[in-house]
Amino acid sequence: MNQTKQSKTTLKFPKNFLWGASISSHQVEGGNHNQWSVWELETARTRASQAEENYGSLPVWGDIKKQAMQPSNYVSGAASDHYARYEEDFALAKKLNLTTLRSGIEWSRIEPNEGEFDPQALEHYRQYFDAMEAQGITPVLTLWHWTFPEWFADKGGFTKRRNVKYFTRYVDYVSKNIGRNFAYVITINEPTIYSVFSYQQKRWPPEEKSLYLALRVLSRLKIAHKKSYKILKKRWPRVQIGLAHNCSYFYQGDDSIITRLTAWVLDLVGNRYAIHGVSKYQDFLGLNYYFANKVIGTRVHNPESPQNDLGWTMEPDKLRPMINHLYNQYKIPILVTESGVADMHDQYRQWWISESIKAMSGAMADGSKMIGYIHWSLLDNFEWSEGFWPRFGLIEVDYTTQRRTIRDSAKWYGRFVAKMRNI
Ligand code: BGC
Repeated sequence: MNQTKQSKTTLKFPKNFLWGASISSHQVEGGNHNQWSVWELETARTRASQAEENYGSLPVWGDIKKQAMQPSNYVSGAASDHYARYEEDFALAKKLNLTTLRSGIEWSRIEPNEGEFDPQALEHYRQYFDAMEAQGITPVLTLWHWTFPEWFADKGGFTKRRNVKYFTRYVDYVSKNIGRNFAYVITINEPTIYSVFSYQQKRWPPEEKSLYLALRVLSRLKIAHKKSYKILKKRWPRVQIGLAHNCSYFYQGDDSIITRLTAWVLDLVGNRYAIHGVSKYQDFLGLNYYFANKVIGTRVHNPESPQNDLGWTMEPDKLRPMINHLYNQYKIPILVTESGVADMHDQYRQWWISESIKAMSGAMADGSKMIGYIHWSLLDNFEWSEGFWPRFGLIEVDYTTQRRTIRDSAKWYGRFVAKMRNI
């Protein structure tokens, strides 16, 4: 896992490298009814009352206090109203010269009741992805980003192996009936994070605290991926399919054996465990990159790194060894399917993107194959248990008026992409 030397300053990217941004249906669409929206209503008051305890030590506390203490912050509601405003949002992405957008289909809209599929909802998504393509933007479709219909939650969600068939039936229905195909599909977003946060850390619905359940869910998600992979490959033989993995880079703060062993174990548990067993069913490896962790002895320790608004340490340069590590291990091309910062004052985003660009160029110079970079996120959106206050968007959203404003960092990214594309 050693970082090889950065090859000077020239940035080299293949002509067909995808430059983009990402969103997920529940976080931007608005008007969703699924297991997550039910949980939001059940827990919003409690979470608002715990805001100071949870976020009081963040440097942005003064800026977010009012919002974070309101129950409405924790209810996705109209979100960024992207379900209605997608054309405007695609036009903005085009203005930023982006060549790709990662976005999803919401299962609870397609199959609101068990076995009852809604052709109109599917038609919405057909038009949605056609409109995206009409702007010259290649869609990267996500089939599942953590939310599902209530009836599926009532059956136990992914804790039960026999429930996998409901997910694959949804995948089958969508791929059979949507009336178009896709070049890139992500079946499942971050299986590890979902399993652990929802079933072991009690942070997300259904707030379980069982390692056994978390491992079970992770294994069911892997099965769901493999089965979906086969369905999609039959239907769209040329499609490139991957999972989006949340991977943290664990690097050694010293050279002791215990440090090396700890870093190896953390990488195994946090990264490779979820990829093993499904690596043969991935045409690309989707990488959601937010974290690097310095390991010293048995501790993970990042005192020198600056922090974003969520208090997450920021080490975008470690994207290079992260990519190299994954590529060397699996020899599957890497598509960065998410990477970004919560940054309400837009003070770090440009730096983060520019460091990421250097890191990717370096990783390719080191021999890693890459497909593209999809920044998280196109728009400010609903950040799961934290609600609306974290601002990840290239484009700022005023949630009172739904007015969109392109941030300066995004303008910079757009100019950079134009240069890379020679336009
Ligand atoms: C998730 C996104 C989320 C982002 C920032 C990723 O783990 O896929 O949905 O908004 O991180 O927390």
